[in-house]
Amino acid sequence: MEPIALLQDKKIVLGVTGSIACYKAVDLASKLTQVGAQVDVIMTAAAQQFVSPLTFRSVTGRPVFNDMWALDEHVRHVGLGETADLLIIAPATANTLAKLAYGLADNLLAVTALAARCPILVAPAMDGGMYQHAATQANVASLQARGVRFAGPAEGRMASGLSGLGRMLEPEQLFAEARLILAEGGVLNGRHVVVTTGPTREALDPVRFISNRSTGKQGLAVAQAALDAGARVTLIAGPINEPLPLGAEVVAVETTEQMGKATCGAIGDADVLFMVAAVADFTPQSHSERKIKKTETDDWGLAIGLQPTLDILSAVKTTRDKTGFPRVVLGFAAETHNAYEYGRDKLLRKGLNFIAVNDVLAAGAGFAVDTNRVLLLSSAGVVEEMGLLSKTAVAERLVHHVAKALNGPIPSV
Ligand code: CTP
Repeated sequence: MEPIALLQDKKIVLGVTGSIACYKAVDLASKLTQVGAQVDVIMTAAAQQFVSPLTFRSVTGRPVFNDMWALDEHVRHVGLGETADLLIIAPATANTLAKLAYGLADNLLAVTALAARCPILVAPAMDGGMYQHAATQANVASLQARGVRFAGPAEGRMASGLSGLGRMLEPEQLFAEARLILAEGGVLNGRHVVVTTGPTREALDPVRFISNRSTGKQGLAVAQAALDAGARVTLIAGPINEPLPLGAEVVAVETTEQMGKATCGAIGDADVLFMVAAVADFTPQSHSERKIKKTETDDWGLAIGLQPTLDILSAVKTTRDKTGFPRVVLGFAAETHNAYEYGRDKLLRKGLNFIAVNDVLAAGAGFAVDTNRVLLLSSAGVVEEMGLLSKTAVAERLVHHVAKALNGPIPSV
């Protein structure tokens, strides 16, 4: 996994309690470590029946804590709990939930949870209807009332062979939940950000369409960067095959018209619109309800008349002139030549605060690659000329500039 800026050097304490789901906690510890977090694992005695401390030590590269009475460090529980950015308890058994709810302090994890000053994320794992038992539910409710976050459990097959509610969430889901919590209070905290991404498709008949090479990678990276900055994100996505960031409200669309409707519907209270989508500019003048057969064409082949689609940014401009929302609009420009001139012209014509121009023919830029070369312009001129960067890094730079504009003078349109 690539390093993630938000998680660099974040101190995460991972409490592991006695459940077969311990093996998934190893993967979670590994993922968090790989992206740059410092992960300190505390295991209960029961957890060590399932997985050895050496396993966690091997993936985190750090000592594993399991002994409240060890003499090698002064008041360890206070140290771990006070300095952590996040305490995750995964898997959390019914027994540990009960201890946390009542404030018991008879092992290192329970004591650390009492001493913790950071957010606590709990991923319950239990079999045989234990999660739904009134006692467990009362403990969950009392912990939630005190601000403890819960992720899961999920429904499905459990170790006993029974099926029901009690499976621990998968490591990648817990990873995403932890990421959302760590993002709280970021530079876009409390902001609503709308991002469009991917291509749009215009149908010729039920089996054929006009579209473009966009894979949605850059827009997805922008949505993730906005989430990492603490924003509430609405992601309007054309047809794409990439994994979607957890935490965004996703609106799936196909045509330019649908994307336009979804965008205009989402910007009513938006602070920012990142219009990253590679919108299809033309749509067939007529659409056949049935497949167009080769036998229906003449010797000249098939002539398709095209008409322009809705220019979404122009529609946004009309709304914005009336309402003032979105406060900041950043468009993209896909160019193959004269990037600066065409970019500047589009910025002014479409009433944008910023335009991110990319030369889609440049090496390492454009569609279906993980890198990009972007020239960011505002009406005042060049904001930043980025060299070859990952699409993630480009997205983080764009979020940085937009957040700065929201807090200071917004470049005029
Ligand atoms: N865009 C839009 N609606 C369209 C086409 C594009 O809102 N029907 C947006 C894109 O999402 C992007 C910006 O306009 O943010 C510029 O898109 P681009 O394809 O570079 O420019 P076009 O407007 O299509 O102009 P041209 O094809 O002449 O370059």
